Amino acid sequence: MAEQQTYNYTVVRQFSIMTIVWGIVGMLVGVLIAAQLAWPVLNFDIPWLTFGRLRPLHTNAVVFAFGGCALFATSYYVVQRTCHTRLAFGPLAAFTFWGWQLVILLAAITLPLGITSSKEYAELEWPIDILITLVWVSYALVFFGTILKRRVPHIYVANWFFGAMIITVAMLHLVNSVAVPVSLLKSYSAYAGVQDAMIQWWYGHNAVGFFLTAGFLGIMYYFVPKQAGRPVYSYRLSVVHFWALIFTYIWAGPHHLHYTALPDWAQSLGMVMSLILLAPSWGGMINGIMTLSGAWEKLRTDPVLRLLIVSISFYGMSTFEGPMMSIKTVNALSHYTDWTIGHVHSGALGWVALVSMGSLYYLIPRLFGRELYSLKLVEVHFWTATIGIVLYITSMWVAGIMQGLMWRATNTDGTLTYSFVESVQAMHPYYIVRFLGGAFFLFGSLVMAWNLWKTIKGAQPAVGTIPEPAAAH
Ligand code: HEM
Ligand code: HEM
Repeated sequence: MAEQQTYNYTVVRQFSIMTIVWGIVGMLVGVLIAAQLAWPVLNFDIPWLTFGRLRPLHTNAVVFAFGGCALFATSYYVVQRTCHTRLAFGPLAAFTFWGWQLVILLAAITLPLGITSSKEYAELEWPIDILITLVWVSYALVFFGTILKRRVPHIYVANWFFGAMIITVAMLHLVNSVAVPVSLLKSYSAYAGVQDAMIQWWYGHNAVGFFLTAGFLGIMYYFVPKQAGRPVYSYRLSVVHFWALIFTYIWAGPHHLHYTALPDWAQSLGMVMSLILLAPSWGGMINGIMTLSGAWEKLRTDPVLRLLIVSISFYGMSTFEGPMMSIKTVNALSHYTDWTIGHVHSGALGWVALVSMGSLYYLIPRLFGRELYSLKLVEVHFWTATIGIVLYITSMWVAGIMQGLMWRATNTDGTLTYSFVESVQAMHPYYIVRFLGGAFFLFGSLVMAWNLWKTIKGAQPAVGTIPEPAAAH
């Protein structure tokens, strides 16, 4: 297979497999912590199994291990295919794989032990932060090195999104992680008070904007046209989408700090930028979905395409909900409630996980030279995942709005109508529904893992029988 020699598929294969493995591990922990919220006895009174320790393990596993491996796998594949050249710095690419797995392993050990910097999504202590920096700089060298030695004049738009993700995540990580170490496993942030909070949420929001959005838009721009066998709807729109999105995202962080000690003008600026963000987000969604124009009938027969298109629809939904939640009066109700958790998972499960899984169905058969084992099982995965997401997010909307209303309800004499614990009690049925939703989603992911495992282990078809849809560019 000439193409296997031309391109470095080894590292893409490794990252693809680990995407599946870490996805299942991360979601398993998600289902466990969802169960703990419904049935606290499942904390077992063992410190490293408690909700407080496992929650950051869940977020790190799904965002950085599952999402991160998906980004490495797809960006390495796309940059080679669209630049018509092999990855630059082969050994460095291998280092990014092993280095990233080591980061994940160290996270899986330290977080349950309670070793944390206590900054959300940046919990890992300083020695691991240094390792992350080394891996990330190597990633940048491999990715941009490949772009530099490309054999075609243009740079396909997916690479713009991957590239922006790599540069911005480097900047966010370096600035937010500045800390004073006091021992090997403990450090204190270099920032204090409200500055610390603002830098943390500038980081946190852009971790969403660049890690969980820009990178996955890169995936959308390559794999949707490929799977649909159609060119991207509008190349011009994709360029406008790119610049508008990256310019706007970076200012929206203060919406995480409404009604705090952050100056009021900064909160309002964050709100306005978040509202503006609706436009580029929906521009991207429209570009993704409209790529199907002239090929809508494929949705009936191709469950992989359906998975990808539903993921873009969830992207549209969560980027409509986000700007609404950033309006200060809405946030006064939603903040600190499960509504935020519902919003997070409509983006995380609906968008990030589904678009990654859609790309895996495209990638694995091509990387291993096999035909996909079963389309029927993709269909099963599609429906269980979709039902799971709907159960998860609707239960959290109801729970969140109910919480917000219970907390603000007052009697005629001005006293609170409900004690806090009454609002906790009222959540019980919704937490059970969320647990079921998570279990459905996890089940779908296990079906995918089985299907892809059978694909890899299947008989090798005759050369040329693996369909390669028309080029996206
Ligand atoms: C236009 C796009 C978006 C805007 C304006 C937006 C806005 C918001 C707002 C206002 C909050 C609540 C902050 C609070 O009350 O604490 C929030 C939370 C969050 N959003 Fe979004 N959102 C957007 C898209 C997304 C997407 C696509 C994802 C996931 C892929 C996502 C992931 C999150 C996460 C993880 C949080 C929780 C952060 C935390 O408190 O830990 N958002 N977002
Ligand atoms: C089977 C699937 C999943 C289940 C059952 C699940 C469950 C949970 C639970 C119970 C929490 C804690 C909520 C709380 O503190 O009240 C949580 C938080 C979170 N999960 Fe998941 N999760 C799943 C998949 C995912 C995926 C795939 C992602 C990302 C790609 C993700 C990202 C997050 C994030 C960012 C938070 C923190 C939200 C915040 O602080 O506002 N989850 N998840």
